[in-house]
Amino acid sequence: MKAIISDIHSNLEAFQAVLEDIEGQGVSEIYCLGDVVGYGPNPRECVDLVMKCRIVLLGNHDQGALFDPEGFNPPAERAIFWTRSQLETAGANAGERERRWEFLVERPRCHQEDSLLFVHGSARNPLNEYVFPEDIYNQRKMERIFALVERTCFQGHTHVPGIFTEHQPEDVYQFQSPEEVDYAYRLDGRKVLCNVGSVGQPRDGDRRACYILFDGETIRYRRVDYDVETTIKKIYAIPDLENFLGDRLRDGR
Ligand SMILES: [Fe+2]
Repeated sequence: MKAIISDIHSNLEAFQAVLEDIEGQGVSEIYCLGDVVGYGPNPRECVDLVMKCRIVLLGNHDQGALFDPEGFNPPAERAIFWTRSQLETAGANAGERERRWEFLVERPRCHQEDSLLFVHGSARNPLNEYVFPEDIYNQRKMERIFALVERTCFQGHTHVPGIFTEHQPEDVYQFQSPEEVDYAYRLDGRKVLCNVGSVGQPRDGDRRACYILFDGETIRYRRVDYDVETTIKKIYAIPDLENFLGDRLRDGR
């Protein structure tokens, strides 16, 4: 059994709650689809914890913190510069700083395993492309992305969990939220794009941390409650992280 997580965004309370939930699920390996940092108050702690995952991909916020951020709105960019300053600070042990930095720099942009593809954004542009639920009406976009997927693609980036499917021959695309599939989707041979949702900043109106379990046949969505008020207080206390980055956690938006 795999657990697939994404978009932790330096939210330590959410990440710890998810790791605890994973412990009881018979999981042998954890895959993380990127954006370990950005937005939240605990980048160093989250990088340290994510190192126990078998696969960790590079997300656009991770890349922004390492190199020069491009294409971010002002609050996100400020958060990225603050994140970089945190990663440049060693804490108690100077070796830790090097270890985190090296780990992040070495992250791959995608991972393929049999017929499973793992990306942060999309199969077409692993780092930066968003695939939103409303993109099902953009036939050209969906066609091109589905063409690059052998069977199943696990992705994150939008923070909106759900399952995209392709229905031929009419080339109609469908999106189903976790509630719409009753939190479980069994693969039936058709191609699937699975957005695993976000651990640290869900945006589908459900503030609980989100991730999936995958046994090779069935995708199961998990929602995990965590101490959101603690994370919000930390964000409020850091001037470079705007207050709305905390407020949105309360609403899951
Ligand atoms: Fe993200």
